[in-house]
Amino acid sequence: MSQKNFYITTPLYYVNAKPHIGHAYTNVLCDCFARHRRFWGEKTFFLTGTDEHGTKIEQAAKNQGMEPKAYVDSMVPQFKALWKKLEVRYDYFIRTTDADHKAVVCRVLSDLEAKGEIYKARYKGWYSIQDETFYTATQVREGFAEGVGGNLIEIEEENYFFKLSRYQSWLIEHIQRHPEFIQPEMRRNEILGFLKEPLEDLCITRPRSRLRWGIDFPSSPDHVTYVWFDALLNYISAVKYALDPDFFRAHWPADLHVIGKDIIRHHAVFWPIMLQACGIELPTTVLAHGWWTMAGAKMSKSKGNIVDPALLSDKYGVDAFRYFLLHEVTLGMDGAYSEDLLRERYTKDLANDLGNLWHRFASMLEKYFDSEIQAQADWTVPLLQQVRKLSAEVDRCLRVHDPRGALDLLWKAITAGNQYVEETKPWVLAKDPKRREELAKVLSNLAEAIAHVAVLLDFFMPQTASRICERMGLLGAGQVATAVTYGEPWIRSGQKVLRGEPLFPKLDDEVPRA
Ligand code: MSP
Repeated sequence: MSQKNFYITTPLYYVNAKPHIGHAYTNVLCDCFARHRRFWGEKTFFLTGTDEHGTKIEQAAKNQGMEPKAYVDSMVPQFKALWKKLEVRYDYFIRTTDADHKAVVCRVLSDLEAKGEIYKARYKGWYSIQDETFYTATQVREGFAEGVGGNLIEIEEENYFFKLSRYQSWLIEHIQRHPEFIQPEMRRNEILGFLKEPLEDLCITRPRSRLRWGIDFPSSPDHVTYVWFDALLNYISAVKYALDPDFFRAHWPADLHVIGKDIIRHHAVFWPIMLQACGIELPTTVLAHGWWTMAGAKMSKSKGNIVDPALLSDKYGVDAFRYFLLHEVTLGMDGAYSEDLLRERYTKDLANDLGNLWHRFASMLEKYFDSEIQAQADWTVPLLQQVRKLSAEVDRCLRVHDPRGALDLLWKAITAGNQYVEETKPWVLAKDPKRREELAKVLSNLAEAIAHVAVLLDFFMPQTASRICERMGLLGAGQVATAVTYGEPWIRSGQKVLRGEPLFPKLDDEVPRA
């Protein structure tokens, strides 16, 4: 049997406004994890897409004076364009308005009805359009966590319900038996705490009289499917559940659902129960990251305090933006965004550490050897011994979802590279014709160190990685240079190296803030 894909997903973004930094963060994280897996030769399936049904979208379309379908069609290209700009290399982009997706939703609903998992009842409760979520009377009484809720409307109507409650003890047991299922640990504890209270059944329809924009509920012409029930099923419809069994088997179960902490209940309570009720295997891990905040508040479309990822990338470069996102927070924690911080990291880490290392190496090679590598590297020097271990160490970090830790390791090697220049003093060696061989060796050692760091940098900063690799004559990062050949000589004697423009030009003090 062929190897199962490493299947990684982002949430599907509501298309009622253009993408912001929170969305960019998740997609860059997933891209980093996917690039890492590909480097190790794993078949990878990286899914992202858009959530296009529900009241929120219907209202946004109305505000624009457009039909919902025309409206969502007009918004989707903005998401695709941003992912392209940010070098987010996904394998498939799903839209919940896709015909295949709708077919799977109908199929699942019919199956669950046939199994007696769905019933009809009168519903009385509170609904938040902002979150597209029902809240129980208890939740309303207790108030909401920051950023959750918005304006609530009281609703009383006849709807269809999915029997969540009957799976409560099964779910608790699953979570307890599988510590990897909800990560990080604090979110696992949060869900286990939530499950101490009785679970209410999930209302999975809206009356058509109030919402037209959704997937038809198969057994009632008067109802439309609840947007979350529809959206969660994307994770199986994208891999052709019930449509192509071989394809489905080659992908499902998902290895990693990456989400933000505010949608953990949907993914760690509703979703596993929906799957269990359908008799489908559960995903391995739901990983929740924190929020990007500005002046202490969650950045969100509704608060209007968002920063535009495209604008920041244009101003500082895609890689500087990606580096900032991946380095600035420990995954799972909130991160305070500020442009000053981004500028500081740009100058210190990118321009002064990495940019400088490249510049010194390439300029010296140009000056002393007409830009041509003259020797084979010596892998016994401490710098290269450190670099040789890097791919395994970075791998360990990324498999436990710690991109920041991985970047710290890469930066230790970059710092060691700069120290190596200080210690070996090539400009002194260059003055002595008898030490020419030694000088050639030093520059070859540096070349290998930089090439090996660059190839791993591809997970985080793909443009810089390719730029360095191209300048050194290595084909695309992650192509010739893979985990299998890591630590072997990649730079041959006789290789020409192009110094090129500075990797991270000095920032202009006058640049206005984005
Ligand atoms: N459509 C649903 C998800 C359905 S998944 C089957 C949804 N969409 S959303 O557009 O509102 O949010 C998508 C993701 O963006 C969520 O994971 C949310 O946590 C994340 N973020 C929104 N604002 C954020 C920040 N300020 N910071 C980090 N991520 C945040 O929910």
